[in-house]
Amino acid sequence: MKIVLLGPPGAGKGTLATALKESLGLLHISTGDILRVEMKNNTPLGQEAKRYVESGGLVPDELVTRLIKNKLESDPKAKKGFLMDGFPRTLKQAQDLDKILEELKTPVDWTLCLEASMSVVLQRLTGRRVCKNCGALYHIKNMPSQKEGICDKCGGNLYQRTDDNEATITNRMKVYVESTEPIIEYYKSQGKLKILNADQEAQAVKEIALKSLNG
Ligand code: AP5
Repeated sequence: MKIVLLGPPGAGKGTLATALKESLGLLHISTGDILRVEMKNNTPLGQEAKRYVESGGLVPDELVTRLIKNKLESDPKAKKGFLMDGFPRTLKQAQDLDKILEELKTPVDWTLCLEASMSVVLQRLTGRRVCKNCGALYHIKNMPSQKEGICDKCGGNLYQRTDDNEATITNRMKVYVESTEPIIEYYKSQGKLKILNADQEAQAVKEIALKSLNG
């Protein structure tokens, strides 16, 4: 199954993708995660992406679309199905994704759009912690690690993303409304949109997602 996850920053796309990839055996592709690895390794791509990511703006379409095209063409697991998290983020990216998938003869099956209220999203983003080593997601209140600052899965150190501060979050929200929300209509017109209430706790969101995919 080929699934696109849509929703504002902090709605829980990464959390849901992690839960669904285990249940459905799909590849999780996150452009945010790919860009953060490039930035950590200080590659030319990472250096270019840094200023956009740290201000909460969007990395140019051409650059992220190239990343996704390479991933879809080179990773054999992608052919079996994927959960696309953080891509597409503009109408142009959505149209380009359709073209890439048309060439690969594997169109998107469903788009799950996570709807979350502003207060919930703010609380989630400001309390998020991420493992430096394996990328596992935590939240200081909602999903704390057993030992403060240490990943339960691999023992790595947890850190707070540089774009998880209030000023950058505000800009990310603005960018979401202006550039990404129009994609909802794009998938709706294709009959591929399912809307989920993401204000609930993570297990409940996973359950309604599975139910809507099976229904
Ligand atoms: P990206 O990493 O994709 O960030 P985002 O879209 O802003 O989404 P987040 O990762 O912040 O949130 P999420 O919805 O995944 O929530 P999560 O599951 O972590 O992108 C970062 C930047 O990269 C962009 O700003 C841009 O610059 C660039 N970029 C990326 N893709 C791009 C593209 N295609 N084009 C151009 N630029 C691009 O959950 C958040 C927190 O809440 C966690 O702590 C979690 O534990 C907790 N939580 C999650 N769900 C629940 C729940 N149901 N109940 C309670 N707590 C929950």
